[in-house]
Amino acid sequence: MAGVILEHVMKNYGSMYAVNDVSFTVNDGEFVALVGPSGCGKTTTLNLIAGLLPMSGGDISIGNRVVNDLDPKDRDIAMVFQNYALYPNKSVYKNLAFPLQMRKLPKAEIDRKVQDAAKLLDITHLLERKPRELSGGQQQRVALGRALVRDPAVFLMDEPLSNLDAKLRVQMRSEIKRFHQDLNATIVYVTHDQLEAVTMADKMAVMNGGFLQQYDTPANVFAHPVNTFVASFVGSPAMSLIPLEVSGNALRSPEGWELQLSPANVRKAAGSTTKDIVLGARHSTLKLHKSVVPGSVPGKVYTVEPTGDVTFAQVFINGAVVNISLDPSVIIAPDEMVWIEFDQDRMHLFDGATTMALQAA
Ligand SMILES: Nc1ncnc2c1ncn2[C@@H]1O[C@H](COP(=O)(O)OP(=O)(O)OP(=O)(O)O)[C@@H](O)[C@H]1O
Ligand SMILES: [Mg+2]
Repeated sequence: MAGVILEHVMKNYGSMYAVNDVSFTVNDGEFVALVGPSGCGKTTTLNLIAGLLPMSGGDISIGNRVVNDLDPKDRDIAMVFQNYALYPNKSVYKNLAFPLQMRKLPKAEIDRKVQDAAKLLDITHLLERKPRELSGGQQQRVALGRALVRDPAVFLMDEPLSNLDAKLRVQMRSEIKRFHQDLNATIVYVTHDQLEAVTMADKMAVMNGGFLQQYDTPANVFAHPVNTFVASFVGSPAMSLIPLEVSGNALRSPEGWELQLSPANVRKAAGSTTKDIVLGARHSTLKLHKSVVPGSVPGKVYTVEPTGDVTFAQVFINGAVVNISLDPSVIIAPDEMVWIEFDQDRMHLFDGATTMALQAA
């Protein structure tokens, strides 16, 4: 296995930058998820690593070797795509063996590799079937197997689960995670689903508009999002963001209320470039009251969504929709007035002009 290093990688189509000055390092054996909304440049980044597209600038190394000018076949990578592209007329065995036959490996070695991969992925009993005789999840495992037999330095995967139904996705998610753990494989995995990234990856690269927004462990991205984009992209339901103005030691709403800030948050707010501040809060850090409580701010219930274990309420505060999780025993109704209490230690403050997270000075 080997690591992957991207340094100032660029890809433009005319004046449109699909990938703009992206740098990050995938350590040997790490599982890194590239996440972001549709069109943010994930597939382009992966294809640049694979060598399927020429770069407009920057450097890519795989295993201490600059690969800028190497063909895909010489980069020691294996790709797994969304549409698995199995050979329909070949058996599963032949689908797995084919890339090895192309490399003219001895028959006995091919057989050993195919059997090992089949065992790891639990498809030994399917080796004589044709792809059309397999379920979606089984086809996906064959596609993984075909990458695996090649024993590459790096696995590159582009939304490999997106053709599967919800239940199978969750199952394959843990199988790919297990695959990574068992092999200690270096994997770069593209998904638009932040939950897949958070649950599977050692690190996540959050992209937007061709730019890398944040590169860190899922836990750090969740706890310390660098800007409002990352804050609202990672986590479900999303972090609520309320635009307010700083006024002395408080945040003031045009609706007339003020939220007093703790000394630490006052210091953070002082770092804003303008008086505009965005207050961020995750659903689990908020408390809902049915009558006014000191320090709470008023809101109006918009929707109530029971899910069984937990009920999610959406509450309008100062024109922003705020997600709150509630114990299912709490009874509230749409249009009810409620009071929301923020946790000063777990709230986030962002510069309203730059959208960047504010840190205590
Ligand atoms: N050949 C091309 N010519 C012009 N623009 C392109 C080309 N290929 C991709 N783009 C643009 O580059 C941007 C990034 O595309 P990319 O396929 O990397 O997005 P993505 O993050 O993988 O999105 P999705 O989640 O929808 O797969 C998009 O705006 C896309 O329209
Ligand atoms: Mg894509």
